[in-house]
Amino acid sequence: MKNTKSTTRKKSESTITAKPDAAMNLRDLLIDGLQDIYWAEKALTKALPNMVKNATASDLAYALKNHLEETKNQVTRLEEVFQSLNEKATAKKCVAMEGLINEADHIMEDTMQGAVRDAGIIAAAQKVEHYEIASYGTLATFAKTLGEEDAASILEEILAEEKAADEALSQLAEATINDEANDPDEEEDEEDNVIDDDDEDEDELDEEETDNDYDTDDEEVDEYVEMYTKGKHR
Ligand SMILES: [Fe+2]
Repeated sequence: MKNTKSTTRKKSESTITAKPDAAMNLRDLLIDGLQDIYWAEKALTKALPNMVKNATASDLAYALKNHLEETKNQVTRLEEVFQSLNEKATAKKCVAMEGLINEADHIMEDTMQGAVRDAGIIAAAQKVEHYEIASYGTLATFAKTLGEEDAASILEEILAEEKAADEALSQLAEATINDEANDPDEEEDEEDNVIDDDDEDEDELDEEETDNDYDTDDEEVDEYVEMYTKGKHR
């Protein structure tokens, strides 16, 4: 009986010539894709810290830092996927991720630091997330088709993390950052709230100097401060 699900395929003419090591079946294609995303995740562990450094909104920096830790963990879990398939974990350069990381660097160079760069960082990070969502979605489906349930379930877990990261970035953009990037005045007002790391260091230094000026026991100082703040000081 004829398989009703089979695809009609036209004879290829003047198309790309396959390399000698080209994928011959779905399993080969799965391994190729895993090598690609393994490279991509490793590259991201190096690129994300720069995005964290450039982000000025604390909740954006926090979300990116959180995703950096998640990404490091994904690298380890991809190694488990390779292991479950009895394959050596090998990274193959992912030109798409290389391009997306380059684009993120350009976006940061092309924006003034502040809300506008923050909005640009979100845009770049979401392009990365969407690439990853497409990749993991496909790889999980390949693994399922091949009956590789362990691999499929890890890939689906990672896919869920990428979707959550993308959603978190959308929320940050839509809740505050895009509006702030659209309203430079608002950003100027916000500059008053910026905590300068150097100022904090100076304050700490000042405190130390004050301690040296008064040769007072620390406990006495604490008691004094407590009394003073409670309004009991006379
Ligand atoms: Fe990832």
